[in-house]
Amino acid sequence: MCGIVGYIGPRQAAGLLLEGLRRMEYRGYDSSGIAVVNGNGLKVRKAAGKLSVLEQELQDDMPSGTIGIGHTRWATHGAPTTPNAHPHTDQSGRIAVIHNGIIENSGSVRRALELRGHTFKSETDTEVLAHLVGEFYQGNLEEAVAMALREVEGAYGLAFISADEPGVLVAARKGSPLLVGVGEQEWFVASDASPLLQHTRSVVYMDDGEMAVLTREGYRIRNLETTRISKPVNQIDWDLAMVERNGHPHFMFKEICEQPESLHNTLRGHLLEDEGTARVSGLNLSDEELKQFERIIITACGTSWHSALIGEYMLEEMARIPVEVEYASEFRYRNPVVDQRTLVIGISQSGETADTLAAIREAKRRGARTVGLVNVVGSTIAREVDGGIYLHAGPEVGVASTKAFTSQVAALALITLRIARLRNLSILQGRQFIQALRLLPDKVAGILERAGEVEQLAERFLRNSTNALYLGRGVNFPVALEGALKLKEISYIHAEGYPAAEMKHGPIALIDENMPVVFIAPRDAVHSKIVSNIEEVKARGGKVIALINEGDKEIERLADATLTIPDTLDLLTPIVTSIPLQLLSYYVAVARGCNVDQPRNLAKSVTVE
Ligand code: F6R
Repeated sequence: MCGIVGYIGPRQAAGLLLEGLRRMEYRGYDSSGIAVVNGNGLKVRKAAGKLSVLEQELQDDMPSGTIGIGHTRWATHGAPTTPNAHPHTDQSGRIAVIHNGIIENSGSVRRALELRGHTFKSETDTEVLAHLVGEFYQGNLEEAVAMALREVEGAYGLAFISADEPGVLVAARKGSPLLVGVGEQEWFVASDASPLLQHTRSVVYMDDGEMAVLTREGYRIRNLETTRISKPVNQIDWDLAMVERNGHPHFMFKEICEQPESLHNTLRGHLLEDEGTARVSGLNLSDEELKQFERIIITACGTSWHSALIGEYMLEEMARIPVEVEYASEFRYRNPVVDQRTLVIGISQSGETADTLAAIREAKRRGARTVGLVNVVGSTIAREVDGGIYLHAGPEVGVASTKAFTSQVAALALITLRIARLRNLSILQGRQFIQALRLLPDKVAGILERAGEVEQLAERFLRNSTNALYLGRGVNFPVALEGALKLKEISYIHAEGYPAAEMKHGPIALIDENMPVVFIAPRDAVHSKIVSNIEEVKARGGKVIALINEGDKEIERLADATLTIPDTLDLLTPIVTSIPLQLLSYYVAVARGCNVDQPRNLAKSVTVE
């Protein structure tokens, strides 16, 4: 949600900034801009639309300068126009800022500034910040930023430069992610690691309330007072190839195809065959501590919330412990019953989702033990929870989450196994579960080899639809929700996910010969029930596409089309049933000419509430 990048060093900044923005475009893509300082002052260039519009405009007019800042925007305050694009400047036009977050008291600060003669060019909260710093500025950017930040409320990851101090870049963080990249005599700031990988793998993760002052000699971290803070330099283990498409038509497709490997990486090192359990030592919980929890709350947003629902089925079924799944945005604003005997699991690909982070903080405040299932190493959630499991799925760049989802389910299976073995699961059952987990990457690879079949179904049943229904039962009900979400977010076809039997209580009214209905129907404990639901749809003329196991003649006879999925344990079926649904939405979106990796109005990493 908005990407920011800054550079100071010996090289020309503009090209580096554009390249950095290109790698962060998934964070927001409705407008972009850069500012650099050179001997002639501050040069600001910005444009509404995708980054390519700005790149086009700068093609023959790249501003020179070896210090600069860049921004790719996901609009919060003000429409996605060129005046509202970042960077924003102060009244003098000599100080520029980029910002990710929301300044909550910008209205009152703006009115006060206007009374003092300030005029504004945009509708944004960020421009207010630039003017405030300008007002405090007396030849020391670092101090002016610190003073201004003491006056504002809200969230920010930001960076300032000034025409009067061409050797200083000042960055600050409160609530929005920010890290410092430490290169060879050059330094960067960025919202995430992806724009840095080409230049350095050494990063310093900033925490809330911290400022970074980057000069041509080095960097230092301080708080808003003046206290210097010493921070470790961390090494990122992602490499450049991981954030590139590598010949794939889209990041989403690449990430779908990576799932045999990402699943393998999530499971790696955790499965203890002999004991029939999972190591998950990162939870930082002893067996005694784990046994003491009386209930579990899993909190997340979007796709991660769907994986949480699957976790509920697994944990209740195998570990016989009560589980509740909460939308993070709701959990934080109610009065949940949470105490020391509650384990709260937060799930987040990015580790930066504002609502999930706030829910975890709320759980901690109420005395709960918190655990994170997070993909991005060093992200805020990963650093704030008491323990957790890194998914190790590798960077997910496509805005629609795919490989992170299956890795979340796999990580939930690991936690389930560990807790279940401490409660009621036998060593034999534990070993069987491990065996099934180990087979999953190959089974997923087998599904991917048949992607062409899914492409045909996409063309035949969904490409020209305006609506679609996804139905599943039991642990595959959340998969129905996820399949519907994938379709609507990237192809803009309205889709609903429902427990198959609930269809009779309303959605059945929608069914006619134009309605494709995707059934997730592996041969599991509720198979016979889902067959009845398919009959009900067929009786009303609906088009049935069913995911079934090999040899399911009963559903083959009923459905308009089927796709076979490999057998696995009932509770693990979501990992194999979700893959064809990811492919289905992908092929539909491609056929409809949609921007698969950057769907409209969305952004990866939702760092505002
Ligand atoms: C959908 C999608 C979103 C995210 C949600 C949570 O494809 O990607 O629904 O799942 O914004 O994001 P994380 O997992 O980063 O907290």
